[in-house]
Amino acid sequence: MSNLTLAIETSCDDTSVALVKGREVLSLFIQTHLEHQDFGGVVPEIASRKHAELLEVLVKKTLKENNITMDDIDSIGVTNGPGLLGSLLVGVMFAKGLAQANNKPLIGINHIFGHISANFIENELKLPYIALVVSGGHTELLYTEDHFHFEVIGKTRDDAAGEAFDKGAKLLNLPYPGGPVIDKISKEIDNPSFEFPIAMKQKNNFDFSFSGLKTSLLYFLKENERTEENVANIAASYQKAIVDTLIYKLKNAVKKYNVDNIVVAGGVSGNSKLRDSLHKTFKHKSVSIPSLKYCTDNAAMIGVATNMLKDKWENNWNKEYTLEAFSNMRIDKKIFS
Ligand code: KG4
Ligand code: ZN
Repeated sequence: MSNLTLAIETSCDDTSVALVKGREVLSLFIQTHLEHQDFGGVVPEIASRKHAELLEVLVKKTLKENNITMDDIDSIGVTNGPGLLGSLLVGVMFAKGLAQANNKPLIGINHIFGHISANFIENELKLPYIALVVSGGHTELLYTEDHFHFEVIGKTRDDAAGEAFDKGAKLLNLPYPGGPVIDKISKEIDNPSFEFPIAMKQKNNFDFSFSGLKTSLLYFLKENERTEENVANIAASYQKAIVDTLIYKLKNAVKKYNVDNIVVAGGVSGNSKLRDSLHKTFKHKSVSIPSLKYCTDNAAMIGVATNMLKDKWENNWNKEYTLEAFSNMRIDKKIFS
């Protein structure tokens, strides 16, 4: 087996297909559904419909671009949770049909494990490490000694970091998704001057809370008019509060667990201020962050995760093809199915 995996990711509002050999990405297509922008957030029904429309097209493109057929594929990896159930189901059903028709192993990948695996595309990961996973749906601190078993040492009690960016942007009348927009306009400001709170500052508690931050922005905007002149400063101050919170919690966790290796993953890891702060704060540690194109949802990370797990599924993959999709899937319980 040459470890050539066709990977599919449809957990939210991006349809993505990749061809991955071992940890090398041979091709990657990501189609973002722009339709959601009109609604200021993801509309699950539209996402499912777009996935159904796009998957076959993207798989055909992938095979054509690489001048191969399904016969050349060794395995199929698909995200089967956590995420939007309808979106996941479209990907899983499509992958099931493709795998069964071509008699290929089908592996279900935990989306969070996929995000972490994006780091293996370009970096060697040293153990043990603490992973900070920050996306639109998740904010978690994880500890692992072997790459495959994760202890959740902290998580958000309400909104995820990406959600905080998106909701903050909405309050500021900025387009969806808010994270990249806030990141961009914040670059105009060297020293953000508004104060927003950092929640749960107890040293031995690694949980996060971002809903209070969003509420404080709401009250701030009731008292202070948002103008063309101050919007970048407000956005940069709000971004600073999110980044400072993430760094504060990560720093305490790294100290408590005494690790030298830090792995960061998920859409928010593309944030330029966070990347900058991570490198500055942990300059004596090894910090791994994926390249920008592998931070947000993409199938390349799912392909790499599938291949990394090969030893675990190779001799016992499910020939009945009964793979299911789950909107909730705990990283400390299941990283593949
Ligand atoms: O990992 P991802 O693509 O999807 C989920 O699994 O949720 O993450 C999407 C999230 C969105 O909330 C988006 O606003 C945020 O990642 N995001 C960013 C940046 N790029 C994407 N947040 C801050 N700065 C960015 N540059
Ligand atoms: Zn994601």
